[in-house]
Amino acid sequence: MAFAKQPATSEKGMAIEALKSLVPQPCQLVIFGGTGDLAWRKLLPAIYNLNIEGVLPSHFAVVAFGLPAEGATQTDPDEFIRKRAREGIDRFSRRALDESQFADFSRSLFFVQGSFNDTRAYEQLKTKLDALDQQFGIPGSRVYYLAVPPQVVDPCVEHLKEAGMIRDPADALGFTRVIVEKPIGRDLDSAREVVRVVGSAFAESQTYRIDHYLGKETVQNLLVLRFANSIFEPLWNEKHIDHVQITVAEEEGLAQYDAQNGQMLSTRAGYYEGVGALRDMVQNHMLQVLCVVAMEPPWSLAPEVVRDAKVGVLNCVRPLTPGDVDKYVVRGQYIEGEVHGQRATGYRKEVRNSFESMGRELPTGSVNSTTETYVGLKLFVDNWRWAGVPFYLRTGKRLPKRVSEVAIQFKDVPQVLFNTQADRPLEPTVLSVRVQPEEGLAMRIASKLPGPKIRIYPVKMEFNYSSSFGNESPEAYERLILDVMAGDATLFMRRDQVDAAWRFVMPILDRWDQSRVRDLPEYQCGTWGPIEAERIIEPDGRAWRNL
Ligand code: BG6
Repeated sequence: MAFAKQPATSEKGMAIEALKSLVPQPCQLVIFGGTGDLAWRKLLPAIYNLNIEGVLPSHFAVVAFGLPAEGATQTDPDEFIRKRAREGIDRFSRRALDESQFADFSRSLFFVQGSFNDTRAYEQLKTKLDALDQQFGIPGSRVYYLAVPPQVVDPCVEHLKEAGMIRDPADALGFTRVIVEKPIGRDLDSAREVVRVVGSAFAESQTYRIDHYLGKETVQNLLVLRFANSIFEPLWNEKHIDHVQITVAEEEGLAQYDAQNGQMLSTRAGYYEGVGALRDMVQNHMLQVLCVVAMEPPWSLAPEVVRDAKVGVLNCVRPLTPGDVDKYVVRGQYIEGEVHGQRATGYRKEVRNSFESMGRELPTGSVNSTTETYVGLKLFVDNWRWAGVPFYLRTGKRLPKRVSEVAIQFKDVPQVLFNTQADRPLEPTVLSVRVQPEEGLAMRIASKLPGPKIRIYPVKMEFNYSSSFGNESPEAYERLILDVMAGDATLFMRRDQVDAAWRFVMPILDRWDQSRVRDLPEYQCGTWGPIEAERIIEPDGRAWRNL
């Protein structure tokens, strides 16, 4: 069964039209960490696609700033970054690499080589940016994208300040904005320090703390689903909803391998080891999605109103005691197994191989790493709307498939009429929002099987983005980069949101710090996480969804 409305052809590519309605202002985008993994896989391909859409500002340039990987040879810096961008686009762009489009994009792509701690590098950066302002007719406006680890934020910001590269927010001639990538800190204190350091140089109105999940079309559509349809909001509360499940499952582990010869092409172990799934996914992406699912209706779409509503959720999440952590939170680490019929290495070995391939020494303690690659947990939002409704969250790497979903399970119908057989209860109604892939939503409802008897069977009504709107959804980073250039902070995290998310996560980190290594459960690659995760949900008479 499908939703009846079929879109007119003119509706196809509507998401792209929405991108075009943002008005980005002329500027230079300076990527700190321009030679890093994020720039390679996500940022440069995103800008390449924005260029093809024709939505970048009329006067625009991108400057990557950083150090090339050890051993990378480069004679012409700009050529070096263009080659790297080309590789990244070829591998990761949503559109296939097109040589003439790439040539057009690469004309505005430049590189400044330097260490983030080196004063001279900032002088060179400044000279280059000033020259590019002249060349491209840009009024000195800059977006600094800090795609760097949290411990490097301080020197970047200090040097920018010292070099006089930050404009006053009241300056009418041009702007400076800063994008701060996750992770923002590795605990509450260090997050507050990052926020303080950035705040010492940039006003809150100039600061964009990015969480790319908020830029995903399907996550934005949750707001539309809830507040542009009259049927959902009256049901969206503890009276009608039994529980909510939020899943972000990934197939990939830490490293990317060549499909032909199995060689490691790139690895995120340097970042991930010692960080883990709680900090990497739960503290940010999953809690942000929770906010969109559970927020009160904002009274307008003004950025501060929406952000107030979101932080309102985090402020109501019930804090976990150490006893709650033991009961309601499970972590795990993947061990060797199979994903899609392919052998997959266990986490610890993958970390060892990764450090070896980077030519770096394995950090102390990583031989028997206790970094979690899976987290499952239960939480409550203690407000009038959600009183007593459990939210089950789970995320993991090396699970059987890549799928992210928000599922709203409605309460059972009373045990009369069709639901009288206690041993065979009717399946409850479930509204599932498929965040990725195959973006869309589905509603599972009970239906009568055709025939003389009353037999009830669950059926699905489905809406699918690609069949309704064409396969054109922009990547989250495209939307978010454009938002910054247009000065729209709605989809970015305010400092109090970051703080509240860390406050929720801290008791878990503290409890785990106290518990011994042998407490870390394992799961085989290609399975749905450690068996221990069942104990969060099973005693409640519920089950993780079969995805
Ligand atoms: C990043 C995490 O923020 O999100 C990664 O650091 C994770 O570990 C990624 O793989 C998932 O993003 P997406 O958009 O592929 O679901």
